[in-house]
Amino acid sequence: MLGKFRILLISAAIVGGISSPALADGEVNIYSYRQPDLIQPVLDAFTDKTGIKTNILFLDKGLVERISAEGEFSPADVIMTVDIARLVEAKEAGVVAPVDDPEINAHIPENYRDADGEWFGLTTRGRVVYASKDRVEEDSITYEDLADPKWKGRICTRDGQHSYNIGLFASMIAHDGAEYTEEWLRGLKNNLARKPDGNDRSQAKSIWAGECDLALGNTYYVGLMMTDEQEPEQKEWASAIKILFPNSNGRGTHVNISGMSLAKHAPNKDNAIRLMEFLASPEAQEIYAEQVFEYPVLPGAKVSDVVKSFGEIHPDKLPLADIAANRKLASELVDKTGFNDGPGD
Ligand SMILES: [Fe+2]
Repeated sequence: MLGKFRILLISAAIVGGISSPALADGEVNIYSYRQPDLIQPVLDAFTDKTGIKTNILFLDKGLVERISAEGEFSPADVIMTVDIARLVEAKEAGVVAPVDDPEINAHIPENYRDADGEWFGLTTRGRVVYASKDRVEEDSITYEDLADPKWKGRICTRDGQHSYNIGLFASMIAHDGAEYTEEWLRGLKNNLARKPDGNDRSQAKSIWAGECDLALGNTYYVGLMMTDEQEPEQKEWASAIKILFPNSNGRGTHVNISGMSLAKHAPNKDNAIRLMEFLASPEAQEIYAEQVFEYPVLPGAKVSDVVKSFGEIHPDKLPLADIAANRKLASELVDKTGFNDGPGD
């Protein structure tokens, strides 16, 4: 077991940078889909407060498979990931354990956590509309509007089956019903400028390049583009767009979550719970949200200046569990409508 753990720590060190051995107060092992540099500041704050050392194993895929394969000898204590799809995947694979902790529950609104305590949201990200500053006069929009023929040939998006779009489409099903959502997907498909392609940032690039006027994208990418020193042309993409928060005057803008779970066989369970209590605290939510250009799940918690510059978000209150429940149907409708074939039929 120790040998296996050493191998894990070495592989984590390569990608994440793990340093000194455990302190007297013990340690906690985090399996993360999030880049280590994004979660390091909040973990440092935890260590300062508790003396508990944190080890991060960063994975960009196969986290659940890895924990499953490690079985009861898995060194994983806490899982940190993004998107309800991945949180639910971990729950369904049986690699996480329920947590019923009054402190955590007090700081995470019910719609952002699992009823069984097997996952908890920490931050939210809006799935918004990026709109050309030059070519779009509208300052408000609804998701439903995106199927209006007035946008024909003017909308870009990434793959309809991507979890970010599936989350949005699942929320449409929850609010408007499956029949409406199918028609809506056909309308949106007909308004596309091209086949769904690329990632969210490349949709902003397409608006900058004049290939489309509206795009679906997550809020935090705007912050990442605005501050990208490695690829400064992304700042131009960001400055070509304004964010429209769909359905602000109605049910609210669709949000997804980043979150955490307790690993089923956590060898450092007490420390894991302490970390989860800390991550749920308003203080930690703010540090974490600032780092990733997201919103703390706690209503009223502070957002960073960059995020503030996006405009105000009124998040949809739909429980993430309801979105999770409609994901499969959303995926089927994407196939049924030929959404990924792009405009025309
Ligand atoms: Fe993302």
